[in-house]
Amino acid sequence: MILSARNLVWSAGGRRIVDDISFDIRPGEFLGIIGPNGSGKTSLMSLLAGLRPPQSGTVMLGERPLPALSRRDIARQVAFVEQQAETTERITARQAVELGRTPHLSALSPWSRRDEEIVAAALDEVDMSGFAARHWHTLSGGERQRLHIARALAQEPQILLLDEPTNHLDIHHQIGLLDLVRSQPLTVVAALHDLNHAAMFCDRLAVLQAGRLVGLGTPRDMLTPDRIRTVFGVTASVELEADGLCHIRYQRPGEASPIASLRARA
Ligand SMILES: Nc1ncnc2c1ncn2[C@@H]1O[C@H](COP(=O)(O)OP(=O)(O)OP(=O)(O)O)[C@@H](O)[C@H]1O
Ligand SMILES: [Mg+2]
Repeated sequence: MILSARNLVWSAGGRRIVDDISFDIRPGEFLGIIGPNGSGKTSLMSLLAGLRPPQSGTVMLGERPLPALSRRDIARQVAFVEQQAETTERITARQAVELGRTPHLSALSPWSRRDEEIVAAALDEVDMSGFAARHWHTLSGGERQRLHIARALAQEPQILLLDEPTNHLDIHHQIGLLDLVRSQPLTVVAALHDLNHAAMFCDRLAVLQAGRLVGLGTPRDMLTPDRIRTVFGVTASVELEADGLCHIRYQRPGEASPIASLRARA
């Protein structure tokens, strides 16, 4: 199943937030979306997930445009974990993951032992089996984030859209989560801020700047010192490792911050 963006435009507040973006997501790849705060990553992902319609352009899921599909049809194929995913507070961790099965249930296929097994496996994948009976409001930010991912895995999608999936996670769980989603037989699209993680785990990177797609290619080709400076305003050197991966080393900014300068003058 291929997800494609075709000339997507989405404006708000009199400004183009997603500005004529086109690309194909290849089956089975892990595509990272990188770009500064406000560059349009979340806006683009909600268009790809069909949560909001573009003002012009189309998202194609396989051969069909998203508006031709029902919410349920889309949810059987595409799972989206939002940047600020919310869940009602009055449920347990297991119930939060069980919600992932909703698009697959109907009068003809009621909750079954297989659903039970999928939910248990998803909890296990994110290392949360021991928390299954806990109430949502008692869980930490990172534990909630891992359950959102488990809910998406339980949905058994073909395409997983993740908006900053490593938010709130400690480094062990950040690496574990990216490795986990990479090892799934799935197409994964994830907005990421950590460029070294993007280089370690992604097959390709889409680079956004002010709503435009300014680059699409392998991490090695996208993460050059030049591009890191022009897109993120940060000076960095990039080491190319023997295994083909690249490693980014950032330099400290040289100038004192405006507020520190003011204090120094006082
Ligand atoms: N409904 C809206 N009305 C007006 N402006 C909006 C709206 N939604 C988003 N924006 C603006 O669009 C820009 C892109 O927002 P978006 O959330 O897509 O960025 P992002 O790349 O995900 O940023 P971050 O890294 O901070 O998550 C921002 O400047 C934001 O303020
Ligand atoms: Mg965002």
